[in-house]
Amino acid sequence: MAAATDHRLKDGLLTIQSEIDAAFDLLLPVPGDTRARLVEAMRYAAIGGGKRIRPLLLTATADLFGVDRHAAVQAGCAVEAIHVYSLIHDDLPCMDDDDMRHGKATVHRQFDEATAILAGDSLHALAFEILSDSKIYGDPFIRAELVSTLATASGMNGMAGGQMMDMAADDTSYDLPAVTRLQQLKTGALLAASVEMGAVLGKVAPEGRAGLHAYSRDIGLAFQIADDLLDHEGDEAKAGKALRKDDEQGKQTFVTLMGADGARDQARALVNQAIERLSPYGDDAALLIDLARFVVERDR
Ligand code: IPE
Ligand code: IPE
Ligand code: MG
Ligand code: MG
Ligand code: MG
Repeated sequence: MAAATDHRLKDGLLTIQSEIDAAFDLLLPVPGDTRARLVEAMRYAAIGGGKRIRPLLLTATADLFGVDRHAAVQAGCAVEAIHVYSLIHDDLPCMDDDDMRHGKATVHRQFDEATAILAGDSLHALAFEILSDSKIYGDPFIRAELVSTLATASGMNGMAGGQMMDMAADDTSYDLPAVTRLQQLKTGALLAASVEMGAVLGKVAPEGRAGLHAYSRDIGLAFQIADDLLDHEGDEAKAGKALRKDDEQGKQTFVTLMGADGARDQARALVNQAIERLSPYGDDAALLIDLARFVVERDR
């Protein structure tokens, strides 16, 4: 049983990783003018390296409803473009000031700060170029809902808003509810959008998405607790990025607020709860269940 689960998740991850790499490769041809450096930087950040958890969440959800693979992978690529842009900007000297990501130099280190900012901007725009492409998504209602879901999850009421709150996270007034809110925006919003977009592609009516929505909220929080635990006690070589940053910056995280053991227990409880939310889908949800477990058991 454990072996079958292992196999299914590994296959799912490897497949989506190569599909997303191939999609970015096609979307990002290097132009023969002075924009070449910009596109080289986008390719450097977007191709290879990431776990591709968001695209896998999206495609595994879309699979529940028999969605066309190409449409689902392209939408996964749009979410990943936002994620990659958020990491490029997160690593900048004015934010976390990091030199390493995915085991190699961060974009501003490999290129320069201006190029890193523009590469992030361009990946941000690329996400919406993909989702508004009528050749991929013929139905204008689906296009509009995909765009609006990802836009909301990316801006002030999502990732960027959470990043702003995160910059003030050394404020001792942040208690557990405040850190939870911050993380729901910073990390949870894009993970939840991935599941939501899978359901949108599957033409599931909003009232039919409650269970999936609850699942994504639970794993979103569990994912960030795991990120905080990794930062606290993980292995830098495996993570491919600098760790111990939160302690260094005196940040309030789930680990500082609950202790490492408390945080681990909470993450596991959230994952079990997330898995229960999928019971209406039976065996069809096997990959989403594996993914929920992976979110807290990962070492990078
Ligand atoms: C890391 O996200 C940053 C956070 C949002 C906490 P991931 O762990 O999904 O990053 P990659 O893309 O797999 O490296
Ligand atoms: C980054 O959070 C989250 C976003 C980019 C939205 P962190 O700063 O905790 O991520 P890592 O630890 O650098 O990957
Ligand atoms: Mg950060
Ligand atoms: Mg960071
Ligand atoms: Mg972190």
